[in-house]
This record gives sequence, C-alpha cells and structure tokens, in this order.
Amino acid sequence: MRIAVVGGHGKTGRAVSAALAARGATAVALGRADWPDLAGALAGCDAVYLIAPNLHPDEPAYVGAVLEAATAAGVGRLGYHSVASPYAPEMPHHLGKARSEDLVRRSGLAWTILQPGAYLQNLDLTEPVRVPYDVHATFGFADLADVAEAAATVLLEDGHAGATYELASRVATVAALAAEAGVTVEQVDDPGTHPWLSAMFAYYDRHGLPVGTLPLRALLGGS
Ligand SMILES: NC(=O)c1ccc[n+]([C@@H]2O[C@H](COP(=O)([O-])OP(=O)(O)OC[C@H]3O[C@@H](n4cnc5c(N)ncnc54)[C@H](OP(=O)(O)O)[C@@H]3O)[C@@H](O)[C@H]2O)c1
Repeated sequence: MRIAVVGGHGKTGRAVSAALAARGATAVALGRADWPDLAGALAGCDAVYLIAPNLHPDEPAYVGAVLEAATAAGVGRLGYHSVASPYAPEMPHHLGKARSEDLVRRSGLAWTILQPGAYLQNLDLTEPVRVPYDVHATFGFADLADVAEAAATVLLEDGHAGATYELASRVATVAALAAEAGVTVEQVDDPGTHPWLSAMFAYYDRHGLPVGTLPLRALLGGS
C-alpha cells in the first residue's frame, strides 16, 4: 500500500509515516513543495492522510484543496487529522476543523476522521512545568505514538470508512502528570504569542479538554 501523508514533515506526519512503514506500507510525505501539483503528487497512492499545519489561517481551504486533488488523482480513501471537540466556537482553530470535517464528510471519498486530544508530547516533563491555564483542568491526552498507530490502522485495515474516532491515551490533569514525573508545576500568564492560542488557553483554563479513552483502546487492541 502506498499512502500519501499531506503535511508529512511535521511531528505528526513523521510519526504517522513511521507507523505506516512499520506495517509494511510505503509512506509518501508531502509538504509545501508538493502543493503546486498536489494531484500529481497523489497519483498512484491508495490512500491519503491529511494533516493541516498548526494554526493554518484557513484550514477549510487547505482541506478543500486536498480533497479536490485526491478526487482528481483517483485516491478513494482519506483519513483526516482533526481534533477533539472540533465544534468549540470559542477556539477558532477548532472551528476550522469542524468546518473541514463537514467538507470531508461531503467529499464523496471513503473517509475516516481522527480527533486526538492534546498531545502528551506538548508537555516537557523533564523540567518544571509552566502552563498558561489551570493545572487542575481535566484533559484526555493523546500519546503521539498511539495516534500514529490509530492512523495506520484506519488507513490499512477495513471497516473504518465513515467513522469518526476521538483519541485519548489517558485522562489526567497537568498537575497529576507533573507529580508523577516528580517535577514542579505552576500556572503562568499567557505569553500572548498568537490570538488563537490565547483563545485556546482561556478555554483550557475554564473547561480543560476532556476526551474519552475507549475508542483508541478499541482501535489499538484490534491492530
Ligand atoms: N499538538 C497537539 O496537541 C495537537 C492535538 C490534536 C491535533 N493536532 C493537529 O495536528 C496538526 C499539527 O501537526 P504538526 O504539529 O505535526 O504540524 P506542523 O509541524 O505544523 O506541520 C508541518 C507540515 O505542514 C506543512 N505546511 C506548513 N505550512 C503549510 C502551508 N501553508 N501549506 C501547505 N503545507 C504547509 C509543512 O510543509 P513543509 O514540509 O514544506 O515544511 C509540513 O509538512 C494540526 O492540524 C493540529 O491542529 C495537534
């Protein structure tokens, strides 16, 4: 199987490509340089895994272009890398994924949507942890390796067309993870690096981002 990974050079794309290769598939990582002829780059692929870059200013346009190219190239199978709780209008980048999910579902392709929670790898637990939100808020954290395995499963195995799976490896608070790792933790001010990140931190502060763990367990158990 030859699988294109759009956005394949980022940390998610590299993990997905590695999981695909470990199962004997050929992963073709695509980046910005492939964008001018995406349909050409997708030709001959059996499936595509679609990852938008972090905080893309217009994710539905990015996703729409890939759907169009996949259709033109005759790639019938598509996995879309979304996020847990995409329809959270207070977080613009989540809303971009909610709108993109709608495009994916109406694309006519055999699609599967993965909705990972915040990656465990976002936190560096080897040093004091400082986050700009309530350290006692509840999250469903996703281990990137688990997410990549789930992506490989839905792309290489039958039975996942038309499915949407939220993905979390464990439910925890940042305070609990820091205590486990033996490091200190504190809430700090929002650094204000990007308005969409500020919106996300404000949401996390109030609501966390809870995600159930059963779908991921079922997917990995079956692989
Ligand atoms: N971090 C989390 O906790 C988390 C949780 C759930 C979901 N997600 C989602 O996971 C995705 C992020 O994955 P990541 O961190 O691996 O991504 P990333 O590092 O931001 O993505 C980099 C890839 O996107 C390509 N790219 C960047 N800008 C582009 C543009 N304008 N047009 C076309 N391609 C472009 C890059 O191409 P080049 O190779 O040419 O540089 C590269 O292949 C996001 O959609 C994010 O919302 C993240």
